[in-house]
Amino acid sequence: MTTLSDWLAAQNVDQGLASVMTTMAAASVEIAGVLRQAAITGQTGLAGQTNVQGEDQKALDVISNHIVLNHIGQNPHISILISEELDEPVHLQNQGAYLVATDPLDGSSNLDVNVTVGTIFSILDARKGLLQPGSAQLGAGYAAYGPATSFVITFGPVAAAFTLDETGVFVLTTAQLGVPAASAEYAINTARERLWDRATKGYVAENVAGETGPAGKRYNMRWVGSMVADVHRILMRGGIFMYPLDSENAAKGGRLRLLYEGNPMALLVQAAGGASTTGQQSVLDVVPSDIHQRVPVVLGSADEVKRVEAWYAKG
Ligand code: AHG
Ligand code: MN
Ligand code: MN
Repeated sequence: MTTLSDWLAAQNVDQGLASVMTTMAAASVEIAGVLRQAAITGQTGLAGQTNVQGEDQKALDVISNHIVLNHIGQNPHISILISEELDEPVHLQNQGAYLVATDPLDGSSNLDVNVTVGTIFSILDARKGLLQPGSAQLGAGYAAYGPATSFVITFGPVAAAFTLDETGVFVLTTAQLGVPAASAEYAINTARERLWDRATKGYVAENVAGETGPAGKRYNMRWVGSMVADVHRILMRGGIFMYPLDSENAAKGGRLRLLYEGNPMALLVQAAGGASTTGQQSVLDVVPSDIHQRVPVVLGSADEVKRVEAWYAKG
């Protein structure tokens, strides 16, 4: 049995960087504990305030943000925190080399209904500023709070998955995630179909056509509505996740946030052999101009991402 600490000790990374993963794992264990009891302790529902994105915060969004902030504040290697739930970056008292950008609780619409949600995070060199492209990430990961609590992380070359055991320890359960190039499963919110661009409509129509369409095979559709859960499924067995630019979200630049949703997930998928695109370029190549910047996100099995890119190339 390999624990998260065993695995981290065997990686060829700076000890401070490894400790950031330990910190995010500890925060995730605490959040998992709160989620497990939330319906009993009454920590459900709205918090009564909105975040910088104008979204209603749920009580658990606010609690999860506090938990992450508290754990990060105790790690001397982290000097800056960017969070979906905080308007401004937090400059911590520590002079550490690392910056963490986080979505403390992803999948808010699935809170209170006992469906998988998660915590997503990205690690950057704090000395290089706030607005770095995803390709500059030193590490990334997420916790998925599902039937089991998973912790999936990368420092770049490989993505590994850990599962929380009954004693509160993360145990290595997949040493190297591999997203198969070919797949027949897609994830997109089809209720937005009338808002989609030509490329998205074209690609999805081909999938719906199944064995009678150009792909020549039948597809299945899955949409949890928590990016963490949808991407976790893709990392475990392949598929494609899409939250494209559409006529409603175009003015904002997309739906998902670049620094703490698009970038960490794109790095994990790339480490597992998959690909990502905004339709125009790899998600990892987008240079941010704002810490809460939004971005179109398409990621997963390489062959499927290529098909989407081909539709965008048609213009
Ligand atoms: P968050 O809860 O952090 O705001 O993120 C929710 C995101 C993402 O998890 C998911 O893929 C997407 O929103 C769901 O969007 P729809 O409501 O359009 O299904
Ligand atoms: Mn989110
Ligand atoms: Mn969130």
